[in-house]
Amino acid sequence: MTLPKNSRIIVTDGIERLAAAGADLFQRTAVASIARAGLFSVAVSGGSTPRPMHRLLAGDPYRSGVPWQLTHLFWVDERLVPVTDPDSNFGCAERDFLNQLTIPAGNIHPMSSRKPPAAAADDYEHELRRHFSRFSGTGPVFDLIVLGVGTDGHTASIFPGDRSAVETARWVTAVRGGTPDVERLTLTLPVLNHARCIAYLVSGSKKADVVRSLLTDASVQLPPQRIAPQRGKIIWLLDKAAAALLPQDLPGCIRK
Ligand code: 6PG
Repeated sequence: MTLPKNSRIIVTDGIERLAAAGADLFQRTAVASIARAGLFSVAVSGGSTPRPMHRLLAGDPYRSGVPWQLTHLFWVDERLVPVTDPDSNFGCAERDFLNQLTIPAGNIHPMSSRKPPAAAADDYEHELRRHFSRFSGTGPVFDLIVLGVGTDGHTASIFPGDRSAVETARWVTAVRGGTPDVERLTLTLPVLNHARCIAYLVSGSKKADVVRSLLTDASVQLPPQRIAPQRGKIIWLLDKAAAALLPQDLPGCIRK
């Protein structure tokens, strides 16, 4: 299977190095986006894998190196639970880094769990359209979207075989599923496929099988296979355990 031409795979030695590689990419993309357009629009994921990276972002060199005043933070997906709930993606981000940084409140765009799912999805779509309306006519072009992958091959909260995996009109949709099995909101494929950079952060031996399938088996029909931004790049940041089943000579794979 050949990876989309704009893809790269970077394998790091362990979760700390993976977190640092993610934080470096976050800062580099922030500085480049602000130099180009005066603003950095980024969407982050939930789950456990990005948390070490989020914690790193709260400290130097990222605390002073990322122009947080010009950074707009969105979420890729959210579990519709109270912010105080340990399963809240926004709640975790607040605790892991947002509470330790000075970011204008208007630059932080959490998905709301206070309304019924469909209404919350509409609200978030309006918020995205309002944000990206400042870049007339380009659509929902995030500078960076950080994604995870589940052992079942889901990404964001787009689950294999679910209608969210074939949504082509909406920018945000409500789904139910995953672990925890709750109501969720998720950005959809149209938004993911507009991104300038998609960065997958994947860690641990439990993910080795799905990583091998996604990166070496063209017959696999899983949601990440439908993410191929036309004018963007894809970077797979993996730790050694998640990359353990990949062929040593996989094209486009850099082992650090
Ligand atoms: C979510 C996530 C989800 C996550 C994967 C991987 O809110 O559940 O956004 O897509 O990235 O489930 O989760 P882990 O990093 O915990 O393995």
